[in-house]
Amino acid sequence: PLGFIDGKIVDIDALVVPLEDRGHQFGDGVYEVIMAIDGKYVYLKEHLDRMERSCGEIRLVPSFSREEVENFCHQLLKESGMNDAMLYLQWTRGVSPRVHSFPPNTRAILSGTIRPAKVIPPELFANGARAIMIPDERWLKCHVKSLNLLGSVLAKQLAVEAGCFEAILVRDNKFVTEGSNSNSFAVKDNCIYTAPANNLILAGVTRAVVMAKAQELGYTVKEEFVSPQFYKEADEVFLTGTTTEVMPITILDNEPVGDGKVGPITRKLQEEYWKLIG
Ligand code: PDD
Repeated sequence: PLGFIDGKIVDIDALVVPLEDRGHQFGDGVYEVIMAIDGKYVYLKEHLDRMERSCGEIRLVPSFSREEVENFCHQLLKESGMNDAMLYLQWTRGVSPRVHSFPPNTRAILSGTIRPAKVIPPELFANGARAIMIPDERWLKCHVKSLNLLGSVLAKQLAVEAGCFEAILVRDNKFVTEGSNSNSFAVKDNCIYTAPANNLILAGVTRAVVMAKAQELGYTVKEEFVSPQFYKEADEVFLTGTTTEVMPITILDNEPVGDGKVGPITRKLQEEYWKLIG
């Protein structure tokens, strides 16, 4: 695996990150996770578009052009020697003595890693995974792919401690938003429901691809908030994400979803997604 910082490619274990990088001290930055399959990035444009939007939302001015970032991504994949890899890219607002407000004259720093993708057990994709529903305690700008991930970290840890793959988050005890690092969907009577892409969720690249495919296949997709009870009574529940792909959830809060087997719509979308990413 390789690391990189500020245009330099280094060994992943090299000590390179400045102690006063605002990414460390404030989580003052944004990130993306992008997969490469068979030597090609999957939806690179969409991820870099979103990264630009995230930068705009936090008023971070990148120090490389979009073209430079894109070329750098390709260079990294080449130098890594990997065909299948996971690229983690982050912008931070730069290095400066610690003050909360934006320090004048800092230069944004691009850094990250490229390494083999973590492997999700195939039986989860085949037979479905478990999830719990817990309160969404994150901030109100979840549409920004911010480095501040403590809300997601704490949620995922609760899921893992409950023997689950994911925590599905419930805002204000009223409606489901998304997973801790995935988007969530519920299927009822052949209609597919997912939260609208407002400030309470991350507008996932995979979410958009899967929604478009579902519509192309003739399914109705409704971007509507639904209750946790709706999820419990759904015929199917599934998650989407760059690393999550299309993951069936067959046990939710210790109860089977529908008949407890992977549903036909989830299976179809899972297969179609795999075809798309090759
Ligand atoms: N997570 N929602 C949240 C809160 C996420 O962190 C992610 C992605 C998604 C799915 O987005 P996409 O389909 O664009 O990957 C939804 C990244 C991969 C992570 O694990 O950090």
